[in-house]
Amino acid sequence: MKRFLAFVFAVLALSCSRERPAAWQLSLDEKLAMTHAQSRFSSAGVPRLGIPDLWWSDGPNGVRAEALWDSWAQAGWTSDSCTAYPALTCLAATWNEPLASEMGVCLAEEALYRGKDVLLGPGVNIMRLPTAGRNFEYMGEDPLLAGKMASAYIRGVQSLGVAASVKHFALNNQEKARTRVDVHVSDRALQEIYLPAFRMAVQEGGAWTVMAAYNRIWDLHCSENPRLLTDILRRDWGFDGVVVSDWGAVHSTDAASAGLDVEMGTSTDGLRDNPEATDYSAFHFAEPYKEKLLSGEIPEEVLDTQVSRILRLQERTNLRPGRSHGRFVCPEHSALARKVGEEGIVLLKNSGVLPLDTLKALNILVVGENAIKKMAVGGGSSSLKTKYEITPLEGIREAFPLADVRFERGYVGDAGEVYWGVSAGQDLSDSRTPERLSADAVAASEGADVILFVGGLNKSRNQDREGRDRLSYELPYGQDQVLEALIGTGIPLVYVNVSGNPVAMPWAGRASAIMQAWYLGSEAGEALAAVLSGRVNPSGKIPFSWPSSLADTPFYGSERTCPGILREDGHIMDVYYDEGIFVGYRWYDRAGVEPLFPFGHGLSYTYFEYSGLKASFRGGRLRVSVVVRNIGTKEGKETVQLYVGAPAAGDGEAYERPEKELKAFQKVSLRPGESRKVSFEVPVSGLGYYDETLSRFVTVPGRYSIKAGASAGDIRLNKEIILTER
Ligand code: BGC
Repeated sequence: MKRFLAFVFAVLALSCSRERPAAWQLSLDEKLAMTHAQSRFSSAGVPRLGIPDLWWSDGPNGVRAEALWDSWAQAGWTSDSCTAYPALTCLAATWNEPLASEMGVCLAEEALYRGKDVLLGPGVNIMRLPTAGRNFEYMGEDPLLAGKMASAYIRGVQSLGVAASVKHFALNNQEKARTRVDVHVSDRALQEIYLPAFRMAVQEGGAWTVMAAYNRIWDLHCSENPRLLTDILRRDWGFDGVVVSDWGAVHSTDAASAGLDVEMGTSTDGLRDNPEATDYSAFHFAEPYKEKLLSGEIPEEVLDTQVSRILRLQERTNLRPGRSHGRFVCPEHSALARKVGEEGIVLLKNSGVLPLDTLKALNILVVGENAIKKMAVGGGSSSLKTKYEITPLEGIREAFPLADVRFERGYVGDAGEVYWGVSAGQDLSDSRTPERLSADAVAASEGADVILFVGGLNKSRNQDREGRDRLSYELPYGQDQVLEALIGTGIPLVYVNVSGNPVAMPWAGRASAIMQAWYLGSEAGEALAAVLSGRVNPSGKIPFSWPSSLADTPFYGSERTCPGILREDGHIMDVYYDEGIFVGYRWYDRAGVEPLFPFGHGLSYTYFEYSGLKASFRGGRLRVSVVVRNIGTKEGKETVQLYVGAPAAGDGEAYERPEKELKAFQKVSLRPGESRKVSFEVPVSGLGYYDETLSRFVTVPGRYSIKAGASAGDIRLNKEIILTER
């Protein structure tokens, strides 16, 4: 209550600042201090008025360990080891909005316990390049799926008075030259592909903060971009919250008038890499901004607007009366982390070898570094220090108590990742040569009933990690050779891929089963073993298309489209999104190329039949229903995906429409033999394309193709209906 009164007082002080005596006002210095960092992860409150500091924390799938006040180095606390939840690609793969909200609530509880006001996530940048370093933190290639899942997550986080920060606004689709890249994208692709997830996060999720990205667009950095931060975000979408910069993404005081409210993480000459430095006055929003305000070059109203937005954020978070104190690493959080993992794991292929029978005394050979490697640490800012992390091998051993479970390394990847001083506490060094490791794995397979190869990527440099993209689509560390040798033994091989990105799998046709296991967090091994053993029936579906090769995508043919062309200044890199709106399945449909696994694909241990598709336009809405029936013998969950193919408004590229676009989805749980009618309603206004000449979305009358399917490549039912009016 005391804090709330302080807030009311401050708002009054601010809003009355023209009429009230000086003592009632926030001083210029007090206001300025609120707009920039005072430490690595906090910005100042107003101690004189009891307005607390704001504490910001990564995010997005756990609360990051404490860093020192003025440096990235670890504070060395013994009470900051959190629960790691699965990375957001896995969350997206659940297609389960209520589950995303539950995860948001758990994250907020951990944030509150740790005294954090803003959780820096979710990230909703569309997966454009299958090699981009941060895809594992994002939510896939489709704007609707990413937007719906992110909104649900945000509602969960914010329900407890912790702000979410949807990031990175906008077009952070590659890590290569991420602070220097200038993105050239059509307005249509921007509005149809790259912005909708952000818009939904703001309008449906109600995000209280947005993080401006490092990169440039329209020849301006995102944090200094009035069209992005003011015209689109605030005017068009009605955002009333705080825009915070990515750490070090501000380059001038222009950011203030452009719509940025808080500057974080700037390295200045005086502060760069200097753990002793305590002086934040060199931030753009500190002394340089003050000079411009005092000289009248920037009107003080600009600062007042920033401060009132920050106070609104504080009213919603750390000045909110009765905010809970949260809880940390409790059984409920572990259970939820496990559940998200279990629902997000995707069974990509199964020739019948899975699930493995827990009642048999199986002889199981587990191969692969990722079976023993802890993965919550690393990857960049989403790196987590965890209370515990159950590895795949530990989970498998526990789930198959009757089996003889043996392990062979197979390859050495990254023997011990330490990230900013946080170590997984493992020394995985192994002095064997690659040939020896492979030969030992083959020798160990003798007599095995099944080989579980747990491989993929990790969070080391040039893999799934912030700051750099992958250099190749192939599996690293010679895994393909080991896999070929093991497949050559004729023993059924289940390949479990740990990654946030697709990888080349030239041997896919010869593997008995393939499972996508993401970065699953604290409960990784438990969740994986539950699906392998059939205790949990898999129901995840990949949130991106999985190409056989990069040559099947439109991006890698020229430097223009990836990674960009360096300007003559040797600094800025121009990247051209020449493929326009044809990203992901929209591209594969248009090119007539089949990916290895289509967007939305994921198998179950049961089977689902679709029937009775009904579709009509009524009352300004597309109304669709379809009946799904579990025709197998196990209880399971199916995500019914509704795609719509819309007519073109005219001839030519400007009017071309994708063959189909995801417009709704619903996940249902069905017992064997049970059927359910699944209904969807989509406003007709949501079926339009972005007309660049009119600068708005336009829905065209004509013939619409309504498709219900189990994935973008498995459309079960199709119906054509006519829209007569908009
Ligand atoms: C990342 C952000 C992160 C911030 C703070 C930046 O490098 O891009 O996603 O929230 O650091 O750690």
